[in-house]
Amino acid sequence: MKPLIPFVLVAASATAVAGTPVQILDAYANAVGAAYQVSAQRGAEFYARKFGVSAKMDSCATCHTGKPTQAGEHVITGKPIKPLAPAANADRFSDPAKVEKWFKRNCTEVVGRECSAGEKADFIAFVSGGL
Ligand code: HEC
Repeated sequence: MKPLIPFVLVAASATAVAGTPVQILDAYANAVGAAYQVSAQRGAEFYARKFGVSAKMDSCATCHTGKPTQAGEHVITGKPIKPLAPAANADRFSDPAKVEKWFKRNCTEVVGRECSAGEKADFIAFVSGGL
């Protein structure tokens, strides 16, 4: 459980002072271990991968579009979704609790399980344009 300690500390302090995409990414990467090599390329593959778990919510791109800088649309409710890329929407990856909540919900629906800390770090690196 040791690698989780830095994550908890960063998440807690980030809640008080808000977070940045880099801080939130680092917290996930540190939760994997100091040697973890974050990969925006792996994040891109994960983002576009069709998991085949949910017929309607096959991939992250289904709602978030093929490009994280674009506004998306919820495939079931039709509600607009602001771009995931911090470059296009400054609110993104600024609140660790919100990030965690949506990773949990969307990964469970799309991937059929929670995403690993490494998958989350790679995902943030990709949607942020490779931090
Ligand atoms: C069924 C539609 C849908 C799919 C598919 C989907 N998302 Fe989302 N996602 C949403 C909605 C709705 C929100 C919350 C509304 C908002 O923040 O604009 C959201 C927000 C997020 C956030 C919050 C980011 C932030 O800081 O605001 C993350 C992270 C996220 N999604 C990751 C994922 C990942 C990873 C996948 C694929 C495993 C995925 N999403 C697939 C609909 C979806």
